[in-house]
Amino acid sequence: MGKEFFSYLKCRECGRQYPKKAVHVCEFDFGPLEADYNYEHIRHSISRSLIEARPYNMWRYRELLPIDGEPTVGLETGFTPLVKADRLAKALGVKELYIKNDAFNHPTLSFKDRVVSVALSRAKELDFKIVACASTGNLANSVAAHAAAAGLKSYVLIPADLEQSKVLNSLVYGTQVIGIHGPYDQVNRLCSEIAGKYGWGFVNVNLRPYYAEGSKTMGFEILEQLGWRVPRHTVIPMASGSLLTKVTKSYQEAFKVGLVDEQPFAVYGAQATGCSPISAAFKAGTDIIRPVPKPKTIAKSLAIGTPADGYYAVNAIRASHGSCEDVTDEEIVDGIKLLAETEGIFSETAGGVTLACGKKLIESGKIPRNESIVICITGHGLKTAEAVAPHLPAPRLINPSLREFDALVANDAALHAAAA
Ligand SMILES: Cc1ncc(COP(=O)(O)O)c(C=O)c1O
Ligand SMILES: [Zn+2]
Repeated sequence: MGKEFFSYLKCRECGRQYPKKAVHVCEFDFGPLEADYNYEHIRHSISRSLIEARPYNMWRYRELLPIDGEPTVGLETGFTPLVKADRLAKALGVKELYIKNDAFNHPTLSFKDRVVSVALSRAKELDFKIVACASTGNLANSVAAHAAAAGLKSYVLIPADLEQSKVLNSLVYGTQVIGIHGPYDQVNRLCSEIAGKYGWGFVNVNLRPYYAEGSKTMGFEILEQLGWRVPRHTVIPMASGSLLTKVTKSYQEAFKVGLVDEQPFAVYGAQATGCSPISAAFKAGTDIIRPVPKPKTIAKSLAIGTPADGYYAVNAIRASHGSCEDVTDEEIVDGIKLLAETEGIFSETAGGVTLACGKKLIESGKIPRNESIVICITGHGLKTAEAVAPHLPAPRLINPSLREFDALVANDAALHAAAA
């Protein structure tokens, strides 16, 4: 057998090595386990041109993903648009701005399709027949859809009070949707107990080391879509903090294997003020995360009060000389509207958080106006329609009559003239 790219799992705290099984914590210090690779071998095996010749999906970076064989789940996921956002750039007063648009991911319109593709490809290699997750909504949608397509049975556990459309987007695939009376942290705790007792493959519990690596593909795509160049500033939403740490890892790995020339970059974390344990720790100058027992925000997908990777996210942000911000529900809605009205992109509440935090970071001078900026939009607006609906005007109603339409337009023209 040839040399492997993905070598073993490794404790982030003590560096002890673990075999590539469904394990996620170190037995010695409870540190999280993470995939580790044979980077020298990868460096000699891949190149920009090899990657560029592959199909446009997240598996073009396959050597840096933690599976042994060929991918079997999520073959069409990823390679979402990186939009040069000139109208938004003008509105924000910056020179070079891009939107990484994962609202457009296949098949369930959020970046979670990336993590689930890896987790379920690995779950099949480890021979799991039932897969499951603890979710704030998007992950449940993605597990349900990918499991259906892979012929796996699935259970998704969510807080009972999620947005209607997130619940429907799980139910339609025939998965078992279990609503829990309690916030996400309690859902997550229950899932750890179930994983121990039933031995199912929980994508973000016992399969977490594989799942988490899927987020790196968002970073690899940004680099490739910028012409193999690292953006100077990247703004990323945080719930558990995993996406931010993995985008950081993707940039570092791309330097390490020679895909991109090493340049300084900074990462910025975005949260909702009603659940901002990571941003609060950053602002307090510590890396001790104080849990938020009762999150209160319209950004339900980001409402994780005890973020598993919060400590690592704060440290990644500090090491890169980035920063953190958090925003109110009102600012979130304004962020969603600004992105829609300038770029024609409808994002979910998490995207409103990211955009509004990016705006604040620019206005406060923490992100300079004359350097490249990427804002990561991670989920589609139709999933959280009820959060913006009360803030939009109703359509104007007329009868199917040209006379009525003429009157409406004439009235608009008069209004415009009066305003001019
Ligand atoms: C739309 C969206 N964006 C961002 C995140 C944050 O992900 P992470 O837990 O990796 O920080 C989530 C998590 O559920 C999400 O649903
Ligand atoms: Zn350890």
